[in-house]
Amino acid sequence: MRVLVLGGDGFCGWPTSLYLSDRGHDVTILDNLSRRNIDNELEVQSLTPIRPIGERLRTWREVSGREMRFVNLNLATEFDRLVRVIEELQPEAIVHFAEQRAAPYSMRSVNSKRYTVDNNVRATHNLLVAMVEAGGTPALAHLGTMGVYGYGWTGSAPIPEGYLTVKIETPDGEVAREILHPANPGSVYHMTKTLDQLMFAFYAKNDGLRITDLHQGIVWGTQTDQTVPDERLINRFDYDGDYGTVLNRFLMQAAIGHPLTVHGSGGQTRAFIHIRDTVRCIEIAITNPPQMGSQPMVLNQVTESHRLRDLAKMVSEMTGAEIANLPNPRREADENDLVVRNDQFLALGLNPTTLSQGLMDEVTQVAMRYKDRVDPSKIIARSVWRKGMETSEDLITEIPGTQK
Ligand SMILES: NC(=O)c1ccc[n+]([C@@H]2O[C@H](COP(=O)([O-])OP(=O)(O)OC[C@H]3O[C@@H](n4cnc5c(N)ncnc54)[C@H](O)[C@@H]3O)[C@@H](O)[C@H]2O)c1
Repeated sequence: MRVLVLGGDGFCGWPTSLYLSDRGHDVTILDNLSRRNIDNELEVQSLTPIRPIGERLRTWREVSGREMRFVNLNLATEFDRLVRVIEELQPEAIVHFAEQRAAPYSMRSVNSKRYTVDNNVRATHNLLVAMVEAGGTPALAHLGTMGVYGYGWTGSAPIPEGYLTVKIETPDGEVAREILHPANPGSVYHMTKTLDQLMFAFYAKNDGLRITDLHQGIVWGTQTDQTVPDERLINRFDYDGDYGTVLNRFLMQAAIGHPLTVHGSGGQTRAFIHIRDTVRCIEIAITNPPQMGSQPMVLNQVTESHRLRDLAKMVSEMTGAEIANLPNPRREADENDLVVRNDQFLALGLNPTTLSQGLMDEVTQVAMRYKDRVDPSKIIARSVWRKGMETSEDLITEIPGTQK
C-alpha cells in the first residue's frame, strides 16, 4: 500500500514507518519536526541519541534497501501544500500521529494550552478538508487516546470500543440508540482528542471519509525489530516530567538510581501497550478500514491495564529502586478501576505482547546504556493542572541529583 505517515518522526511514528516499510508498504513520512523543537524549548533531549531525519532515512536505505520519502510540512498551517501532497501521492492509507501529545505539556502554561489546541485541532481539521479536496478514497487511521473516555466514568463496567448503546424513553416506548461514548477529557491535550472525534463523525457522515480512531493506551518500550539493527535508527525515549510515559520513566529511574516517582497514592489504573504492538495495530487498522459511508470505526488499542503503584512495586522488586510518593499534579481520582474491551483487534489477529521481565529488562538496558545523557533536574513533573496546586518542588531537593 502507499501510506502517508503524518508525525512519522515521533516516538510511535518512526518505528511504525520502519515497520510498514519493512512489510513492503511504500511509505512517505510527513512531519514538521515540532517535537524536536519542543525538546529545545524544554532544554531536554531524548534519552536515546536520535539522529536527524535525513540520516535516519539514509540509514534505513542502507540497512533495508528500501526508500522512504520525507515531507517537512506543518499540518496546522500549510493547507494548500498538504492538498498537493495528497493529490500527488494518492495514498491508499494515511496514518495520523501528528499532534502535540503530552498531557502535562498541554497544562504547563497559557501558551502551551493554546498551542496544543491550535496545533491539534487545526491539524486534524486541515487533514480532513484536504482529503475531501484531493479526492481519492484513502483510509485514515488516527491515534486517539484512552483518555477520551476519562477514568472512572463507568466504574468497573468495561469500556466499550467507542460507542455506547443507550435506551431512551419516548412517548411511543423505549428506543435504543448507539451514541459516541461520552467524552470526559482530563487535560487540554485529551480535550483536543475528544474534539477530533466529533470532526471524524462529521466528515465520515458528510463526505464518506473512511476513518478509524485508535484509542491507544500508554505506550511503553523503545525498540522494535526494525530499530535494533543500527544505532542510527534508534527510537526516541522521553524520560522528562512532561513527555516521559510512566512505565518507561520508572524503568529509567531505576536504571540511574533515582526513586520511582509515583503521583499521589498510585491508585490510578491505566491501559498500556508495547511499542511493538502499536506498530502491528497500525498495519491491521489500515488493511481493515471501514466501508465508505460507515461511522468512524473505533478500536481500543490496548493490551493490558495496571494500577500505577503495582507497576512501581514490580519495578522496585525487580531492581531494588525506592518508591517516592509525590503530590499528584493532575486533577483526577486517586483510585479508579479500568476494564477495557479490545475485542476488535484480537478478532483481527493481534497477539498481545504483555508485560514481561524480558521486555522490561530491554528498556532498562537501553536506559543503562544512555544514562550519562540523563539530566536529573528534568525528571520530576513540574506542570500542574491548576494554579496554586501543591507541587513536588519542596520535595525535589530531597531526591538525590535533582534541583529546584
Ligand atoms: N506515546 C503514547 O504513549 C501515546 C498514547 C496514546 C496516544 N498517543 C498518540 O499517538 C500519537 C503519536 O504519539 P507520539 O508519542 O509518537 O508523539 P511524538 O510527539 O513523539 O510524535 C508526534 C510527531 O508529530 C509531529 N507533529 C506534531 N504536530 C505537527 C504538525 N502540526 N504538523 C506536522 N507534524 C507534526 C511531531 O514533530 C512529532 O514528530 C499522538 O497523536 C498521541 O496523542 C500516544
